[in-house]
Amino acid sequence: MNQLGRYLAEQIRLQGPLSIADYMAAALGHPKWGYYTSRDPFGSSGDFITAPEVSQMFGELIGLWCAERWQTMGAPPRFVLAELGPGRGTLMADALRAAAAMPGFVAAAQVHMVETSPVLRAAQRDALADHSVTWHDRIAELPPGPLLVIANEFFDALPIRQFQRAADGWHERMVAVNGEEFCLVLNPVVTPGEPAADAATGAIAEVSPARSAAMGELAQQISSGGGAGLIIDYGHLRSTAGDTLQAMRAHGYADPMAAPGEADLTAHVDFQALGDAARGCGADTFGPVSQAQFLNALGIATRAEMLQGAATPSQAKDIASALHRLTGRDQMGELFKVMAVAAPGGQAPLGFEDN
Ligand SMILES: C[S@@+](CC[C@H](N)C(=O)[O-])C[C@H]1O[C@@H](n2cnc3c(N)ncnc32)[C@H](O)[C@@H]1O
Repeated sequence: MNQLGRYLAEQIRLQGPLSIADYMAAALGHPKWGYYTSRDPFGSSGDFITAPEVSQMFGELIGLWCAERWQTMGAPPRFVLAELGPGRGTLMADALRAAAAMPGFVAAAQVHMVETSPVLRAAQRDALADHSVTWHDRIAELPPGPLLVIANEFFDALPIRQFQRAADGWHERMVAVNGEEFCLVLNPVVTPGEPAADAATGAIAEVSPARSAAMGELAQQISSGGGAGLIIDYGHLRSTAGDTLQAMRAHGYADPMAAPGEADLTAHVDFQALGDAARGCGADTFGPVSQAQFLNALGIATRAEMLQGAATPSQAKDIASALHRLTGRDQMGELFKVMAVAAPGGQAPLGFEDN
């Protein structure tokens, strides 16, 4: 057992089994041994790759989306441009470079990052060395006022709880320890409420109060101060039963109960629940649409052609393969969804006009 494992096992011996949410929060964010706290996990030598690390086109198109939104908001002379869970800072760097084409945008943008990992904050500082950036641990610390906010693969890292349907009702799945190994057990007490409708005995349902609360905080700020948000993540359109907790290590699946803090733990984002939280806190929502639909609407094919025009044959091949990775149905194009959140009463943002 690793150090975080021994710490969690001791907690379980003292207090009883942990919720999956508590286990996930510690595995990802423990101040010393958490997965994100202690490493930069991106790239071929790491555990996984995200869209901004696949190609500059991703961040550039999001930068243009933000510039268009800013203009629609009446081009406020100061606004908060925030990113949640910005990884290496690649998306924001590409977005700011592309959005500089809109006169006044970069000067008006106050860049704020919500990031708990000191290792990744340092990478973001390097990537954004030419910009003034403020970091925060929590969404609630973002300054008031008009807000444009981006979250790519942030919500999938926020903790979930799981429940299993038995003959007498729903029981929470808890993390217990058996010798040197973690295992899942059911809380014997029936949980009040119905985490999933019409579910058969044995079905597993996931809920995430942490994700709904984060979405609600953003929606409140956007509906009162103006602005918009773009949520990009892998997940499903409708709330549905199923066990989606997964661990990724060295670009392959791992056991979520093994070696906490050494693999990325995520679960599918329930976009219906996120949308409900946003609308419940006063914002309008648009989509979700597939990542392919969104990037195609923003002109990714044209951007790829432009980049290929100035590229060597080998670079042009890499650009074509990045385009496929981002938009292919068998790649990230369908599994990843994009949802926009906006202040109430406005027109559909770019990429959501037909939805
Ligand atoms: C899968 S990475 C996505 C990185 C980046 N958005 C990208 O697309 O490359 C998740 C990011 O969220 C951050 N993170 C995870 N949990 C967080 C939390 N509770 N609060 C703030 N940041 C968090 C991680 O440190 C990391 O930067």
